[in-house]
Amino acid sequence: MTETTAGGRRLLIRDLAQVATPRAGNDPPLRGDRLADVEVLEDAYVLCVDGRIEGVGRMRELQPIAGDVIELDGGGCCAIPGLVDCHTHACFAGDRVEEFALRAGGATYEELHAAGGGILSTVRATRAAGEDGLHEAVRVHRGRMLRAGTTTFEGKSGYGLDGETELASLRAIRAAGGVPTFLGAHAVPPEFDDADAYLDFLITDVLPEAAQLAEAADVFVERGAFTPEQARRYLLAAKEAGLRLRLHGDQFTELGAVDLAIELGADSIDHLEATSGQGVKALAESGVTAVLLPVSALFLGRPMPPARLLVDAGGAIALATDFNPGSAFCESLPLACSLACTQLRLSPAEALSACTVNAAAVLGRGDRKGRLAPGYDADVVLLGAPDWRYLAYHLGGEVVAAVLKDGERVWRR
Ligand code: NIG
Ligand code: FE
Repeated sequence: MTETTAGGRRLLIRDLAQVATPRAGNDPPLRGDRLADVEVLEDAYVLCVDGRIEGVGRMRELQPIAGDVIELDGGGCCAIPGLVDCHTHACFAGDRVEEFALRAGGATYEELHAAGGGILSTVRATRAAGEDGLHEAVRVHRGRMLRAGTTTFEGKSGYGLDGETELASLRAIRAAGGVPTFLGAHAVPPEFDDADAYLDFLITDVLPEAAQLAEAADVFVERGAFTPEQARRYLLAAKEAGLRLRLHGDQFTELGAVDLAIELGADSIDHLEATSGQGVKALAESGVTAVLLPVSALFLGRPMPPARLLVDAGGAIALATDFNPGSAFCESLPLACSLACTQLRLSPAEALSACTVNAAAVLGRGDRKGRLAPGYDADVVLLGAPDWRYLAYHLGGEVVAAVLKDGERVWRR
């Protein structure tokens, strides 16, 4: 379909080797067989009008388009939807390269965390960076994500752990165009020796303003972070303040985060490297999406999450990078897709749906993002490859040739 209204800014991406997209029609999150239902058109075009997709089809069916049209030669490329990274910690200062080297020598992530390194070392650097420094940091990471094909990203606070820096982090994520999540309950900062006292402070002093800036709240349920009971209290207050709910759960220890996510009707539970068969079953029967982070499992040398079991049991999954300085210093969803296929036993089609339409659904944007279909935002990634599955196949390859956001080319190799 290429009938366009008069006026409007039209962009035609033509002569694409393939257009690949999660098929239009089913409401996300896609489950079971639907996760793999990717429609592939050969020798195809994508027509965008005023930042939205107007039509997708085969070149031989392309009708003359009235009015001015900007044409983009898609020859030798495949188009897929702009990727959606629904789990990043993109707002931080400093790095953890020293810790990385220590881990390479045998120290574990949990030992470093317990010794006041880990997350808390990034908290020190982030507090010292100032708001301008945080804005600049998120811009830099957003740029790298974009070059890897991410057109929509979620960003969490959680390296401030004081009122000022948590709120500055949420503002920085928003300013960079990210979807902000309040992760005040990431760790207990050194000025509080008690997790409950810290949560009291968060709920009373930070949450009211954070809820104006963020779309969701998140909490790290883990030994050395927060118990499920503490997480329940914090999440209930966040829900009351109008936020969507997410959890970091079962990363190292199965403490009951899955049951809590289901009880509270959370949008997602993320990590799940330690989830048992019973957790898989409960999650699969629930409305909670399992966000899988294979880069983080790889980076920490941890077991991979039970992705295949979740999908086969009818669960909803999404795929994200977990980009952060400690457990996943990697902005690349194409790399996450490669790991999904090689480590999680997902097909390329399942991986694509998991980091497009299902990730968009986790962020409450499943009706606008993650598909190349009429009415969706014209966020398009052109892969410099003869087959769209190079997205996952070319491990660590520079597979992204160009990126369009809202119908404008914002990057090209
Ligand atoms: O998702 N596990 C908790 N939070 C992050 C890591 C944060 C860090 O190490 O700085 C994660 O892996
Ligand atoms: Fe995370």
